[in-house]
Amino acid sequence: MKNIAIFASGNGTNAENIIRYFSNSESINVALVLSNKTKAGVHERARRLGVPSLSFPRDVFTAGEPIVELLHEHHIDFIVLAGFLCYVARPLLDAYPGKIINIHPSLLPKFGGKGMYGDHVHQAVLAAGETESGITIHYINEHYDEGGIIFQATCPVLPGDTPDSLASRVHALEYAYFPKVIEEVVSKE
Ligand code: GAR
Repeated sequence: MKNIAIFASGNGTNAENIIRYFSNSESINVALVLSNKTKAGVHERARRLGVPSLSFPRDVFTAGEPIVELLHEHHIDFIVLAGFLCYVARPLLDAYPGKIINIHPSLLPKFGGKGMYGDHVHQAVLAAGETESGITIHYINEHYDEGGIIFQATCPVLPGDTPDSLASRVHALEYAYFPKVIEEVVSKE
């Protein structure tokens, strides 16, 4: 059994979808949810699904070592970032080389980088007049949104789209593909 930790800063709909997907898995266990926000919706979702969730201030995440210690205490093998809006520090990258993946709500390298998260991404896609958007699942390195790409899926940008309508279409792709990609990557470990 591989233990995964999900890092999330917000609502946590992807975290919930991943927890549900693996709830009867014999090979993957979502053992822990970590957040840099005490009030993030993800805590309530994790609580309802019986997964422990904890939050730490941003500077604890950016220091890294205390988080690595905690992950080791919980025997975490793999880390999934699902709407985590905090820098992943060097100690974490060193402790989990090639074992941290992120989902981004655009077709990277387009619309990535610092400040590009959630609705900011969808607004930028619409402002640029793109006809296509989608999701990117990628490994994490020390630069925002620049690690090796594992998987992408696309959806159309439709006339009259708002950031909300585009976000819903992109979220649907996230729910459909993220757990399956996690399963594939973790099973190759
Ligand atoms: C997701 O769309 C995810 O791709 C995005 O945040 C959203 C979180 O939604 N992540 C980023 O923008 C990372 N740069 P959720 O909290 O409902 O899962």
